Amino acid sequence: MIIEPIIKGVVAKSSHPTGCQHAVQQQIDYVKSNKSTTKGPKRVLILGASSGFGLSARIAATFGGSNADTIGVSFERGPSEKGIGTAGWYNNIYFTQQAEAEGRIAINIVGDAFSKEVRDQVIEAIETYFEGEVDLVVYSLATGVRPKPSGDGMWRSAIKTIGESVTGATIVLENDSWQETTVEPATEEEIDSTIKVMGGEDWESWIDTLINSDSIAQGGKTIAFSYIGPELTYPIYHEGTLGRAKVDLHQTSHALNLKLAKIGGGAYATVCKALVTKASVFIPAFTPYILALYKVMKLNGTHESCIHQMHRLFSEKLYADTVPVDGQRLLRLDEFELDTNVQNQVEAIMSTMNSQNFKQVGDYQGYKEEFLNLNGFGFNEVDYSEFFDIEQLKKLKP
Ligand code: NAI
Repeated sequence: MIIEPIIKGVVAKSSHPTGCQHAVQQQIDYVKSNKSTTKGPKRVLILGASSGFGLSARIAATFGGSNADTIGVSFERGPSEKGIGTAGWYNNIYFTQQAEAEGRIAINIVGDAFSKEVRDQVIEAIETYFEGEVDLVVYSLATGVRPKPSGDGMWRSAIKTIGESVTGATIVLENDSWQETTVEPATEEEIDSTIKVMGGEDWESWIDTLINSDSIAQGGKTIAFSYIGPELTYPIYHEGTLGRAKVDLHQTSHALNLKLAKIGGGAYATVCKALVTKASVFIPAFTPYILALYKVMKLNGTHESCIHQMHRLFSEKLYADTVPVDGQRLLRLDEFELDTNVQNQVEAIMSTMNSQNFKQVGDYQGYKEEFLNLNGFGFNEVDYSEFFDIEQLKKLKP
């Protein structure tokens, strides 16, 4: 079969294995050819390792100079009669091939990170491959649902405002159309559920499990990713349900920091830049901001993607002699996004952006290209007429 991109709404329904291989290789090449870090972690557990920030963190830790071995947990689907499988499935495979070729250990656990089975598998893998300890735990899950630990149903996140409704535009990648959207205020129950899914509770429970099984090494650290953004986006993000969940995550980082300080380690909520990922395209009324931001940051030469952010995290921040944090003890990687000059230009663009001109005044081409790239499409270097035999693909295992 020949694999074409299929997009429904803002979800990719196909992925291109060779394109995913190329995307992983591009990230590896980037970290290898940039400032290397030797002080980084040697044994890393990444929860949410197959795409976005988690995959880039894995690549930066393995190939960026500290030569880490990794255990990656992700929730991905392989090829079957139903389809070709997800990009994250192939990212796991090609990352592992490259890591092993350089003598690194790269273990993949594909399953639900909220389940007890996956926790047990992770602890067993740490025992087997890492002599019982990890130096760093990267918590990078992005999901809309979390099973209740009681086994009694699911919490579902609701990406909504709090208090007032907000009207904005959502851009539907399937047909490149601009749709006016009104985001309604969440109910108390929706706010609570979003905090359960995207807040700090599960991160804390993972770290507690690992502390209790003595699986965190002396000096061990943990990070989880957050977003704050400029005031312009506060109504939909920072002051909405997602923002509440992130504040909960920030508070969790302080609680975990106290626990890990006992073994000379630390916990940091790491505030990243707005980027196109499988998860972020779901945020309603947010895309016009990203289009304007990409336009400005690319023009200014300060645009970064996940791999640039993660490489900077490892080479300049997390393993510096003193971890640089702000007044709220947050580790910031969003300095270039929040630069006053950048934000003034973004605001100017957004004030003129509409359904007719968003492809010209914003960087829609860059946005769409990055989305396609996430799924292995849109690379000039890849031959998209390549024929795939699904039975052969099934033999590849992460
Ligand atoms: P992503 O969708 O690219 O990656 C999510 C990862 O979580 C994937 O590896 C996926 O397989 C895994 N996953 C999801 N549910 C799982 C489950 N039940 N069990 C095991 N694995 C599971 O997402 P992205 O954007 O990299 O998000 C990661 C974190 O970064 C999130 O906390 C997000 O809020 C944060 N962040 C994202 C920003 C953005 O602009 N994309 C900006 C700042 C923070």
